[in-house]
Amino acid sequence: MASFTIKTPQREYCAIVERGILARIAQYIPQRSGKVFVVTNQDVWRHHGDKAVRGLSGVAHDVLFLPGGEERKRLVNVEAAAEEMVRRGADRTGLVIAFGGGIVTDMAGFLAAIFMRGIPVVQVPTTLLAQVDAAIGGKTGVNLVEGKNLMGSFHQPLTVLIDPDVLSTLPDREYRAGLFEVIKYGVIRSAPLFQLLVERRDAVLAKDPAVVNRMIEESVRIKAEVVSADERESDIRRILNFGHTFGHALEAETAYERYLHGEAVGFGMCAAVHLARSLGHVDALNAAGILDAVDRYGPIPGLHEIPADRIAARLVKDKKTIQGKIHFVLPRKIGEVAVVSGVDDGAVLRAIRSALA
Ligand code: GLY
Repeated sequence: MASFTIKTPQREYCAIVERGILARIAQYIPQRSGKVFVVTNQDVWRHHGDKAVRGLSGVAHDVLFLPGGEERKRLVNVEAAAEEMVRRGADRTGLVIAFGGGIVTDMAGFLAAIFMRGIPVVQVPTTLLAQVDAAIGGKTGVNLVEGKNLMGSFHQPLTVLIDPDVLSTLPDREYRAGLFEVIKYGVIRSAPLFQLLVERRDAVLAKDPAVVNRMIEESVRIKAEVVSADERESDIRRILNFGHTFGHALEAETAYERYLHGEAVGFGMCAAVHLARSLGHVDALNAAGILDAVDRYGPIPGLHEIPADRIAARLVKDKKTIQGKIHFVLPRKIGEVAVVSGVDDGAVLRAIRSALA
């Protein structure tokens, strides 16, 4: 078992990485809790529902389903779940268990954040992407047509329970999408993690248990450290958005239907590398290393059909754009990034074109 502490002004809690922890969820539900709601989707429940029910033995709970798909990560579906909770007798002593991938953890976390002005949430992520990123750090929310996660709240969980065993049923495409987030952690803060992804590609793709555990633990360690230093993303937390500014624009431009979030981050990291290279922030060797790593866990299909100028126009709507100023997280070398603003529009457009090519 590996446990990582996240210390924020809102709450101090642990993210625990342990194979089989799903069988012991009940231990992490405070006894004083009122009605417990497992918020999930049909797909996750079909694969892991039995295990979750066994893990919750002795804890009375209701199960609520959210619709799947990034395009349904909308406020109306959070509202519908809240109405259902009220119909089933929830009050402000209730507790949400967010059980699923990044869409579920974001939506169920947001539901908990705003239900009766806030009830606790335990995050139990079931995709690689949610295990290494979405479920940790308290970001919750939904999309608007105009952009990704434009409505939301910081709502730190009581605890995060990460069971790498659940990844065995994760479809290959979803697993690879999560690997792009792991590459992100390597580029922003851990050359050894990056090396692991480069050197052990076959073991990574075969979901070798020891390698998967190392990837998750190192990613969670970094996330815990960064969020503990800056819960509200006024400073260092911005580095976690490496690849996300361009990625969010791609997701919004394709109506959230075409790419998984992790795939969009893969594209976004390439755009950021091209931009960093053109500005002289990164040398050719490090730039090529990152582009190659993304490529080896790709491909990300259909990018050449997307107009670069439309992605560029979307960047200003990202919530990281402040008073019209776009902030880019750019690599300096593998393991180190910097936040840069005031970048020439032409350079941005050229970087997008190169990443789409
Ligand atoms: N996914 C980026 C963050 O949690 O800040």
